[in-house]
Amino acid sequence: MFEVKFKIMNAVITGATKGIGKACAEYFAEKGFNIAICARSGKDLDELALTITDIYKIKVLKQICDVSKKEEVKKFGSYCLAEYKTIDVLINNAGIFLPGNLLDEAEGTLETLIETNIYSAYHLTRVIAPAMVQNKKGHIFNLCSVASINAYDAGGSYAISKFGLLGFSKNLRHELKKYNIRVTAVLAGAVLTPSWDGTNLPKERFIDVRDVARLIWDAYDVSERTVVEEILLRPMLGDI
Ligand SMILES: NC(=O)c1ccc[n+]([C@@H]2O[C@H](COP(=O)([O-])OP(=O)(O)OC[C@H]3O[C@@H](n4cnc5c(N)ncnc54)[C@H](OP(=O)(O)O)[C@@H]3O)[C@@H](O)[C@H]2O)c1
Repeated sequence: MFEVKFKIMNAVITGATKGIGKACAEYFAEKGFNIAICARSGKDLDELALTITDIYKIKVLKQICDVSKKEEVKKFGSYCLAEYKTIDVLINNAGIFLPGNLLDEAEGTLETLIETNIYSAYHLTRVIAPAMVQNKKGHIFNLCSVASINAYDAGGSYAISKFGLLGFSKNLRHELKKYNIRVTAVLAGAVLTPSWDGTNLPKERFIDVRDVARLIWDAYDVSERTVVEEILLRPMLGDI
């Protein structure tokens, strides 16, 4: 008699209670992954964890965490590692958009966006990636944007932060490839998520959030000989 053992895979997703992060949490849970999630709202975390556990019967770790705060995001990473030991997928998703123009946006906008959109990914990756290096296995996704490659109206400091995140992704990919760790930058155009609440733009002009999760899954699911370095996706009729 052979005993077949299946290893349950573990995914860590930041900012996972809404929008793209939530869609990824549900997608990976549906595929049988254990999920570790964080956000600032404990109530939203409790609700999502309950729903996912109920539907998919998998283990959900959750921690209230403001990823823009170095000590909090490092604590979240350490908690995930302590519980899971190995982490197969890290999705650096949490991020905020503050529209503005470089010359007249509020003082401190750049700092807030850099802390939330780049430093968060940098610090969390530095906690989690060493375990991936040890295992010679892992996949890190960074939620960049078309704002990582294009200038656009009211892009302001948001675009600076997303250009930076793409730079981080490219260097991380270069540094980690020898350890068999894949790094993928996701450059999304407008995706219909709560971050667009209140917009007058027609829903049909947006990317469907589940398409983002699916493409992330597909990039994860290719053979180990291949890495999808960038996923660039836009609304069918172009940027809005
Ligand atoms: N939607 C788009 O059109 C679009 C396009 C390109 C790229 N992106 C990028 O994709 C990512 C997700 O965007 P989204 O539209 O899905 O956002 P969203 O709908 O606003 O959801 C953001 C999620 O992140 C959490 N979050 C926000 N700030 C956080 C912080 N400081 N610490 C911890 N969690 C935080 C939120 O929960 P709490 O509020 O409870 O913390 C929520 O779960 C972002 O990096 C964004 O820049 C979005």
